[in-house]
Amino acid sequence: MADRPVLFVTRRLPIAVEARAARDYDAKLNSDDRQYDADALIASSEGAKAILTCSTERFSGEVINRLPDSVKAIATYSVGYEHIDVNAATARGITVTNTPDVLTDATADIALLCLLGAARRQHESTAMLRDGKWGRWEAASMLGVHMSGKRLGILGMGRIGRAVAKRARAFDMKIHYSNRSRLSPDLEEGAVYHERPEDMLAQAQFLSINCPSSPETVRFLNAERIALLPDGAIVVNTARGNIVDDAALIAAAKSGKVAGVGLDVYHREPRFDPGYLDLPNAFLLPHIGSATEDTRDAMGFRALDNLDAVFAGKPAPDALN
Ligand code: DGY
Repeated sequence: MADRPVLFVTRRLPIAVEARAARDYDAKLNSDDRQYDADALIASSEGAKAILTCSTERFSGEVINRLPDSVKAIATYSVGYEHIDVNAATARGITVTNTPDVLTDATADIALLCLLGAARRQHESTAMLRDGKWGRWEAASMLGVHMSGKRLGILGMGRIGRAVAKRARAFDMKIHYSNRSRLSPDLEEGAVYHERPEDMLAQAQFLSINCPSSPETVRFLNAERIALLPDGAIVVNTARGNIVDDAALIAAAKSGKVAGVGLDVYHREPRFDPGYLDLPNAFLLPHIGSATEDTRDAMGFRALDNLDAVFAGKPAPDALN
């Protein structure tokens, strides 16, 4: 099968995904999941027609400009694509694709877990139990923040933001949102739109960050904007870590301005700000938003569907350029 396109896969992927990649491509897998730096990414792309990568590898303009001419497509195994300079890829005639839709539900589930975990003091409660410090039931111990009837502000009302809203409605939360553009009434489903995100923050007793990382959203949640939140707000981020100013959020969680923090993503993860570890009111997860077997398989199949389309001379369903 010498005519199968060479596919460089930068990370170890689920078994079923790697099996399909190996069936349909001359796949160069990363079985021991070693980490590639920029030079190694470029060297390993030699002879490849396509690259299947993850959000952990950065394809900056410089890296893309140094890729061999053979590379025709980069499929990222993620919905987020801030790690790829799409303009640089376009300039080189390289198609870039992502994996929307298939991880919407899993990520929205984790956002709800973060909302509940932060609001109901999961970290402190579990630590008390595990450390053998649980005395007896107490009427006024481990009191959290009630979700029902509260206002949830959603920053970024794309697929994942809307899936968070759907789940939060089941908790009788009132949905406020800010987005680049207002949704149609059928997508809005009664949610209150705020053209200025700052106006939404003033309403957000709970805040869920669900927007992509972009030059406009980097460090969006800084000290000035945190000050706009109602006192005792719960802040959750399942999008990208660099949307939050860590020092400002940690200070607000320490002072009580923010009652609880729920995070699945971090700036410079996995080496995140250690200040979060000192916060008893932080519910912290290691970027597992899409981590279910079904979802991770579906992400891989979606990425391969895109590559299959490229090599069949058809438009890739999730082309970003
Ligand atoms: C995504 O798909 O963007 C997830 O955060 C994994 O990178």
